[in-house]
Amino acid sequence: MSPNQPGQMPRVPIPGVKNLIAVGSGKGGVGKTTVAVNLAVGLARLGHSAGLMDADVYGPNVPLMMGINRTPMAYGERIQPLDQYGVKLMSMGFLNPGDKPLVWRGPMLHSVIQQFLRGVDWGVLEFLVIDLPPGTGDVQLTLIQTAPITGAIVVTTPSDVSLEDARKAIHMFHQVKVPILGMVENMSYLMCPHCRERIDVFSHGGGRRTAEQMNVHFLSELPLNPDVRAGGDSGKPVVLAEDMRQDGPGFLELARQTISRVAEMGPQEGPRIEVTD
Ligand SMILES: Nc1ncnc2c1ncn2[C@@H]1O[C@H](COP(=O)(O)OP(=O)(O)O)[C@@H](O)[C@H]1O
Ligand SMILES: [Mg+2]
Repeated sequence: MSPNQPGQMPRVPIPGVKNLIAVGSGKGGVGKTTVAVNLAVGLARLGHSAGLMDADVYGPNVPLMMGINRTPMAYGERIQPLDQYGVKLMSMGFLNPGDKPLVWRGPMLHSVIQQFLRGVDWGVLEFLVIDLPPGTGDVQLTLIQTAPITGAIVVTTPSDVSLEDARKAIHMFHQVKVPILGMVENMSYLMCPHCRERIDVFSHGGGRRTAEQMNVHFLSELPLNPDVRAGGDSGKPVVLAEDMRQDGPGFLELARQTISRVAEMGPQEGPRIEVTD
């Protein structure tokens, strides 16, 4: 499989959107949405125009984690994204509020993803973060084969089962020639609030080791931190409260790392906009 083969859809740029960052994982529950949400809000806090597209059409958690759930407006053919914490948002959860799952078949799934990418009025964005569903299935392939993804971030925990699946996700991105910005080891360790000792709940170092073995960049280790969970459940991503100058849960640093990795990958097409905080 390679991009732009005859018979395949070309990776057409999204006008106005400069960088597409896909956040993927081999497994669910490793903190992929948490990373995508905090990364998007972190990028906005650092003064970059950012959007977040929830491509997890089966289990859209972005509305809950961003603390917003309204039906988006449409002008003509274009859907207007919602805006929260300075981040433009689109999620299937906005279109299907409630607990009932949607059942999608291949072609429908394909058109929903295209609609989210190209039927939404994203405006001018420096970064559009995409929260992929877990795994290496249809949605991921459709998306990464048709969208001009700048780079992917693979989220894992340090446990062997998560790492095994992360390797599959890395293979998938390699196969379809999507560059990998790096790997994030989430729930990397727990800082004991009493003795301040570091506890390696799911073992330690596996993320970095796997990244080295697979020749991908290691972006960061994020601690298991109750504030992260609380931020997700309350719709106030923890990065909103992170101190710009001090060590926090690490999401601002992840946003900085992402910006520099994208810069290292060379100039991208599209408008360059400078916004200051
Ligand atoms: N670093 C972390 N510390 C504490 N809780 C976390 C952390 N990362 C994720 N969580 C929590 O774990 C659960 C699963 O995370 P989520 O982002 O929904 O995973 P995924 O999108 O991979 O399925 C959520 O309740 C989230 O708040
Ligand atoms: Mg998720």
